[in-house]
Amino acid sequence: MSKHRSSFSSSIGFVLAAAGSAVGLGNIWRFPYLAAEGGGGLFLFIYIGLALTFGFTLLMSEVAIGRKTKNSCLTAYKHMDKRFGWLGGFASVIPFLILPYYCVIGGWVMKYAFSFIIGQGATAAEDNFFTGFITGNSEPIIYTVVYLLLTAIVVYRGVNKGIEAMSKVLMPILFVLIIGISIYSLTLNGGEKYDNRTGMDGFLYYIIPNVDGMGVGDILKVVMSAMGQLFYSISVAMGIMVTYGSYFRDKDNLVKSVNRIEIFDTVVAFLAGVMIIPAVYVFLGPEGMSGGPGLMFIAMPKIFAQMGVAGTVFGIIFFLMVLFAALTSSVSLLEAVVSGMVDKGMGRKKSTIIETVIALVIAVVVCLGYNLLYFEFKLPNSENPGQILDILDYVSNNIMMPVLAIGTCILIGWITKPKAIIDEATKNGERFFRKHLYTAMVKFVAPVLLFILLLGSFGVY
Ligand code: PHE
Repeated sequence: MSKHRSSFSSSIGFVLAAAGSAVGLGNIWRFPYLAAEGGGGLFLFIYIGLALTFGFTLLMSEVAIGRKTKNSCLTAYKHMDKRFGWLGGFASVIPFLILPYYCVIGGWVMKYAFSFIIGQGATAAEDNFFTGFITGNSEPIIYTVVYLLLTAIVVYRGVNKGIEAMSKVLMPILFVLIIGISIYSLTLNGGEKYDNRTGMDGFLYYIIPNVDGMGVGDILKVVMSAMGQLFYSISVAMGIMVTYGSYFRDKDNLVKSVNRIEIFDTVVAFLAGVMIIPAVYVFLGPEGMSGGPGLMFIAMPKIFAQMGVAGTVFGIIFFLMVLFAALTSSVSLLEAVVSGMVDKGMGRKKSTIIETVIALVIAVVVCLGYNLLYFEFKLPNSENPGQILDILDYVSNNIMMPVLAIGTCILIGWITKPKAIIDEATKNGERFFRKHLYTAMVKFVAPVLLFILLLGSFGVY
């Protein structure tokens, strides 16, 4: 099997593809919003600390499992230890469940990008535009189908001609666009109408630690929210990094590449804050920040509408950028599912078509969750009622992902022993500075932290 296995043609191709998966909607909207809510600089500081320890450990483990076994997520765990083969089932079901609803959200992003491109940004800023759109009959389904087909084409073309080629183009563009909007955001000046608030004030609000009135309990809450965000952001526990790791060449430096993925992901998340927070601060004031993660589709269009002509240009750039970020993530989800089928002997093209059709059916059901199949469901981790999308999200993200990550830590920490991963990462004589830290993290700290995260999903705290 491994003889014909595809591989990324360079470590930079791998880093961009993996960073493409990691950089997604979570970085662009959720990170800035959590940072603003979690005391600005305090959150940033905690997040970076966790990324260097907890995040590094999980990412390292998965990529190394993939490269060592040369198997995608479905069968890789079995090759590490027979008794842990069930983790492969989990690792394949998770992307299978996420893909359909991620494509629905991708469809929403496309709708917004399209609205701005045809000069209808002002309409998109109207009250109820978002709700009106997602509860519509056919439009959300059409956008979802187009989005899913775009994703499928990339995976159909394969690891090199599809995933690697796309990432090498879209990721650098995304980076340039985000820097461009960040600079613009920093130079904003609200004038009299907006109490002379400036982009720079917003930036300071974002980065200066604000611990006023925070007790130990509040700080712990920030730690937990930073950890949950990090866990989601680096795309671990979804089968993706194991699968991409299996395409990573033996001669390339794994430790360096893992570090680069993390740096890329964290820098983009930080820049998303530089781009969004000053703009929200100037136009909506500090209160605008507490709107919740779902407001990417509501607050941002309103801000662009207030910017006049510049708003149209920035609206187009913003939603295109979000679209690129989402596409590279949905491609990685589809690839994680398809690669398992390929390892089982089915051709790539056939596997892609079959899984795309299944995802399409589920995605249509998700769309109808706001229309024909509307109902309200109370989930343990949220105040607001959820629909089908929220249920899929809850089961995969909040329950299955922590369980898979805990299982992986037990497998590596206690069964194969961390040395198996360290040896894999240093087999060409590479340096692994954080060896001891890695061992302690994977055996003790990470599983405990993940268990606490899981308790939070059950609404225990
Ligand atoms: N890591 C992505 C983000 O931060 C989320 C993601 C979800 C990626 C699903 C791949 C698959 O937004």
